[in-house]
This record gives sequence, structure tokens and C-alpha cells, in this order.
Amino acid sequence: MGRLLITGGTGYIGSHAAVVLSKIGHDVVLYDNLSNSSRCVLENLNLIVGRQIPFVKGDVRDTELLISTLSAQGIDAVIHFAGLKAVGESVEQPVKYYGNNVQGSISLLQAMQAVQVKTLVFSSSATVYGEPQYLPLDERHPIRATNPYGRSKLYVEQMLSDVVSADAAWRIACLRYFNPVGAHESGLIGERPNGVPNNLMPYIIQVAAGQRPYLNVFGNDYSSTDGTGVRDYIHVMDLADGHAAALDFLDKTSGWHAINLGTGKGYSVLEVIKACEKATGRKVPYKIAARRAGDVAACYADPAKASERLNWTAKRSLDDMCHSSWRFQQKNRLRVTP
Ligand code: NAD
Ligand code: UD1
Repeated sequence: MGRLLITGGTGYIGSHAAVVLSKIGHDVVLYDNLSNSSRCVLENLNLIVGRQIPFVKGDVRDTELLISTLSAQGIDAVIHFAGLKAVGESVEQPVKYYGNNVQGSISLLQAMQAVQVKTLVFSSSATVYGEPQYLPLDERHPIRATNPYGRSKLYVEQMLSDVVSADAAWRIACLRYFNPVGAHESGLIGERPNGVPNNLMPYIIQVAAGQRPYLNVFGNDYSSTDGTGVRDYIHVMDLADGHAAALDFLDKTSGWHAINLGTGKGYSVLEVIKACEKATGRKVPYKIAARRAGDVAACYADPAKASERLNWTAKRSLDDMCHSSWRFQQKNRLRVTP
């Protein structure tokens, strides 16, 4: 079992991965600049795992701090979650996005190279596939991101591939997440969106909690069974398990690997609403609104490669995703910002 640095470790996905990796015996060190998370996450993480998880407050663009952290902590491998993820904001502030996501990743690679740590798991996204040319999306599907956020992921993936071509000692997995939702079963950690949620699940949960009057369903004239958009929602704890599996895989294999983490099953917006109504026992009023610019009709994974290479498949159901999101909301009485 190795010692791991988790950048973005107090964020939504990073904190869940920290739980899973700690529970299976890895020593984890979290590294985060707290630009989109808070120190409170640390207390809750410590409660879940039953011990103090080391934390370094720092920016991934601070190469010197990374170098000293990697060597002082005796790190064997890095999981790189740190980055910005709001598509709309990336269109308005591309330099901020390329700075955090691309420059941040270059800085991390420089630091890793300096201390000869050459095992890396990178948080990529299904957004690198752009508009699907066929479904389900396998890893051979052409890559064509359609916004600065997506391009930042794509550029980093390609850079990582170049790094492996230049030095075969590197072991790198780019994990392409589909739509992560849900929370840890304790309700102690979960997703805390800032302001009005962009994403479906947090929005529905706020409507169910009575914090917003209704959900806007962005389009009901897509070519799906009920006309609403279809996505591959994956429980964040399944996603976290996928990172543990990726580390095991990299232990035995060198090279660069792009691997989808999805369930392979798509659900429509109306199906998610129905499942959340059942899980919460609350009504989720909705109105049909115009399509959202940039949205695709359907997007879901072919998860075969993850199953073959990582020996990993998603296990948790849509009901589990809705239940755990609701438990997190209720336990924390999350307040909303208008
Ligand atoms: P998040 O915002 O909750 O977590 C990211 C963390 O990184 C935050 O705690 C933030 O403070 C930190 N961070 C940001 N910039 C940093 C920097 N320069 N230096 C140090 N720390 C920094 O987001 P998340 O949902 O947990 O996403 C984690 C990763 O997964 C991101 O790279 C994201 O692009 C990717 N991803 C997320 C989704 C999703 O739907 N949540 C989907 C696909 C890919
Ligand atoms: C979004 C991001 C994508 C990212 C993914 C990760 C955009 C354009 N894309 O994808 O880059 O990788 O999250 O989770 O932001 N919907 C509504 N009403 C709402 C919100 C969403 O009807 O208030 C619908 C959308 O039209 C879509 C589905 O719900 O059909 C899911 O939307 P969302 O949760 O935002 O995820 P994606 O658009 O798939």
C-alpha cells in the first residue's frame, strides 16, 4: 500500500476518494487551495476514517511547495483532482481555466519529475468526447471538446500521453468521468454547490428541500423516450472505488491509459426526477424550458474497458444516488445562495 498525494482532496470527488483509499489501507495526504472547498470537510473526513488525515493548504501552481510536500511526505503516487469545473465560467474566463487546469497540471508534472514520482491518476471527463458520434461512448471515440473547460482536460490528457512516450517509467491513468452524483452514506461529505447549481442532481435536491420552487427541465424535444436529456449518472462512491482500482492497475502496468468511469446506463431528466421524488418523499415540481446551449441529447459510457483492465464496475443504483444526496442535504441543512 502506497502513500498518496490527493490534489483537490477536500473537494467533492477527492474527499470521497480519500475515504475509500484510506479505508483500504493507503496513507493519503490531501493538498488543496480551498478555492472551492472548506476546512470543515477535513473534520468530517477524520470522523469517517477514524484518524487524522494530513492536509497541506497549497496551490498546484506552487511547484516548490509541491516538491517539498512530495518529498517530505514520501509520496509514491498522485491522484490529481484539483481544478476548476464550471463549463459556463470557463467560456467567460478561459485564462483562469487554462491557468488552473493546464498550468496547474504542468506544475504538478514538474514537481513529480523533480522527485521521481511517476505514477499519476488524472481526473478527466466524458466532456472530451464532445457531441457523441455514436453511443455508448468507448475510449476510441474521437476526442473533440467544445468549450475551454473540456479543452483544458483534453490538453492535459495529451500532455500526459507525451510524458509517457518520452519516459516509459511513467504510469498514468486518465479517468473519464461521466456524471458523478450522490454522497457518502454517512451524510458527512457530499457536493456543496456554490450559488445556483448548474447540475441536475443538486438542483433537484434543493427543489425537494423547498429551497427552490421548481426545476427547469432543459428541453423535452430530444430523441429520447420521454424527450428529455439522457446521462450516465454514477455514484461518487463507485467513482471513488474506480480510483482504487486504477491505482492497483498502475501498480502492474506502465504506459498511458484513458478509461471511462460510467455505469453504461443512461437516465432521462424525468427519470431522475421520479427517482428523487421516491427517495425524498417530496414532490419535485418542474417546468419544461428551452434546451440549454451546448447540451447533447444523450451521453453514456461503454464501461467495458474499466471492467477488463481495472476489474471495476459501478454497483450502486440511481435510488442509492438520490437517497445519499438527500441524506447529505438533510444532515447538513445546506443553505442555498440565491
Ligand atoms: P471540486 O471543485 O469539488 O473539487 C476540486 C478541488 O480542487 C476543490 O477543493 C478546489 O478547492 C481545489 N482546487 C481547484 N484549483 C486548485 C488549485 N489550483 N490548487 C489546489 N487546489 C485547487 O470538484 P470535483 O467535482 O470534486 O471535481 C474534481 C475533478 O474531477 C476536477 O478536476 C473536475 O474537473 C473533474 N471532473 C468532475 C466532474 C463532476 O461532475 N464533478 C466530472 C468530470 C470531471
Ligand atoms: C455537465 C457539464 C459537463 C460535465 C458534467 C459532469 C455542462 C454544459 N456540462 O454535464 O462538462 O462533465 O456536467 O457532471 O455544464 N438539466 C436540466 N435542468 C437543470 C440542470 C440540468 O434539465 O437545471 C438537464 C441537462 O439538460 C442534462 C441533464 O439534466 O440533460 C444533466 O445535466 P448536468 O447535471 O448539468 O450534466 P451535463 O450537462 O451532462
